[in-house]
Amino acid sequence: MKIDGTPYRSVWVDQQDGWSVRILDQTRLPWSVDLLRLATLADAAHAIRSMQVRGAPLIGAVAAYGLALALRADPTSSAMERDATLLNETRPTAVNLRWALDRMLGVLRPLKPQDRVAAAYAEAARIADEDAAQCEAIGTHGAELIADIAARKQGRVNILTHCNAGWLATVDWGTALAPVYKAFEQKIDLHVWVDETRPRNQGAFLTAFELGKHGVPHTVIADNAGGHLMQHGQVDIVIVGTDRVTRTGDVANKIGTYLKALAAFDNNVPFWIGLPSSTIDWTVSDGVREIPIEERSATEVTTITGRALDGSIATVRVVPTGSAAANPAFDVTPARLVTGLITERGRCAASEAGLLSLFPERKAA
Ligand code: MRU
Repeated sequence: MKIDGTPYRSVWVDQQDGWSVRILDQTRLPWSVDLLRLATLADAAHAIRSMQVRGAPLIGAVAAYGLALALRADPTSSAMERDATLLNETRPTAVNLRWALDRMLGVLRPLKPQDRVAAAYAEAARIADEDAAQCEAIGTHGAELIADIAARKQGRVNILTHCNAGWLATVDWGTALAPVYKAFEQKIDLHVWVDETRPRNQGAFLTAFELGKHGVPHTVIADNAGGHLMQHGQVDIVIVGTDRVTRTGDVANKIGTYLKALAAFDNNVPFWIGLPSSTIDWTVSDGVREIPIEERSATEVTTITGRALDGSIATVRVVPTGSAAANPAFDVTPARLVTGLITERGRCAASEAGLLSLFPERKAA
């Protein structure tokens, strides 16, 4: 997708040296567009941990490239296993991380150490290209939902989204936002309600940035506004991304998603999830009990960062000194509250039967 007319992906290999990995520093957006160079395993692990890159599919792609960087330093089997484990432990909830590393190890383990670096770059590039293509397909399948609403309503379609599940969270296109971009390309009249998504403000900072750069009409709202807007008929559809979907259709996503799903259910607003198949964890069935929820630093709750009136970037405290704060970063929306899943293979019910209808090869698993 584009920033000020320049096409970007959220991760790529530097064309000049042919091996270092470039990312957009998402901790600096929307204040400045800073490109970072990852040269080592430590750089890649730090980028994921510190959320310079974030979003489930992007975390997976950067981890894949991170393993390629690690192999440049030491391609032996023991180092490779150790470095993959280190990358896998950078963030716990998004299953795309484990998925990408398992896929890399599956390709690399049988190879001789001296053949591993080239193979790792090639496999990481395949993971990145496939993610971009899968997200574009999610866009096509999801845009049909928006087109249907537009045809029925004969007016502007209001879409609500939470967190950032746009191109910044994937390699390109996004998951929840891909249908928005595709529908926008089709000239469907639409508008996006963007949840600010405290504590890290991925909605206010990243989703608003992306949509703005693309010219998509949008309005940032406080996280608590969604239910009110739904009660007053101002939300036609909710589309969010996810960090892990169980084989039964439970959905882990950014904290606050569950409350939006409850409000949508109560108001008969369709609640859809965009996801590539790399986000499905076929090994778990009960999302609330089995999906690990990342607990992040309380500082993210007690402080907020923004641009001060003098133009400087400032972090200020918003909670009295001495008050405790807790920061669970994700929650799980049970499948019964989800209208359906939009995958690269099409749409399905949020259930085991629904998922297996699109991924029949998983029946035996
Ligand atoms: O903590 P983050 O910013 O990595 O969380 C991101 C989300 O929750 C996204 O909604 C999810 O990863 C889907 S990304 C296409």
